[in-house]
Amino acid sequence: MQYSTILGIESSCDDTAAAVLKEGKILANLTAGQAIHENYGGVVPELASRAHQSNILPVVDAALKTAQIQLQDLTAIAYTRGPGLMGSLHVGGNFAKGLSLGLGIPLIGVNHLQAHVSSLFIDQPSPKFPMLCLLVSGGHTQILLVKSFMEMEIVGSTIDDAAGEAFDKGAKLLSLPYPGGPLIDKNTANGDDQKYAFTAGKVPGLNYSFSGIKTNLLYFLRKQTELQANFIQENLADICASYQRALIDYLLLKFKLAITEYKPQSIGLAGGVSANSRLRRDFNALGVQMGLDCLIPKFEYCTDNAAMIAIAGMYLLESGNTTAIDALPYTRGMV
Ligand code: KG4
Ligand code: ZN
Repeated sequence: MQYSTILGIESSCDDTAAAVLKEGKILANLTAGQAIHENYGGVVPELASRAHQSNILPVVDAALKTAQIQLQDLTAIAYTRGPGLMGSLHVGGNFAKGLSLGLGIPLIGVNHLQAHVSSLFIDQPSPKFPMLCLLVSGGHTQILLVKSFMEMEIVGSTIDDAAGEAFDKGAKLLSLPYPGGPLIDKNTANGDDQKYAFTAGKVPGLNYSFSGIKTNLLYFLRKQTELQANFIQENLADICASYQRALIDYLLLKFKLAITEYKPQSIGLAGGVSANSRLRRDFNALGVQMGLDCLIPKFEYCTDNAAMIAIAGMYLLESGNTTAIDALPYTRGMV
């Protein structure tokens, strides 16, 4: 919808985010993180809801000011309806509903996973469909066949941990703080990615299992630290590089199978783990190798953000998909 001005609100997990999208362009995209969870080594749902309550008004206000947009200029409110943490979703959802009612403008409930895929459509040339998308976040790992901007089908999925979780749990074993994914990435500098081997369990078809690689790392570290107490500190770069290689090679191995099976016109990478430097490099190389257009989100649209909610909201609004005021959040699934 060319003339829409949409406020996007994201509050599915531990980031409170707001963005303003005007005529298809992002004018503001702000996120308030929640450092409190670092003390617990993972997200504590009740603390997340409370932090969203404190953050949401200042973040929305700051996004409107940055965009130089007044409340009355808005034409629709898009928010994350699910999946995510129930309390967190309620905070963003109720705030969005209040604004929609108060301003008398449409409310658009967005699926968080569809929104991650939509992050590929921000400031990028229109993709060729069907696109095969590798969605890798802290809560999900899926291969999606994307048939149009809003039409997508899951063709492969993890049966246990998500890729981001495998990064974070691996980091925890290495005593790196939460969320450890970015720190594993950072610590790979000058590391030898061939030094240690970590292997994934076998899962049929296009599905993934990450719990085996993580357990592999656990037993390996146990054994090595028994022999040498400071093994981790002395070999951190090599361990991070080898573990990261194992995760990414496995992600791409299954994704290549999916390309062979579905013969897409383009490929896309989305979700928080798409911020990983090696995955971005290897995914791009795969596109070149396969002769396929390759879409990778800009850094600011990889991890949870509200710009992706606003753009998904725009496509939903264009197709007449608005949401009733009594719509409930959902914790799971692609709706
Ligand atoms: O999409 P996202 O922000 O939140 C969910 O919807 O889950 O993804 C967060 C995940 C975390 O597991 C985090 O460790 C991972 O993305 N992540 C990374 C990197 N940046 C974020 N993992 C590996 N390398 C990175 N550079
Ligand atoms: Zn996410």
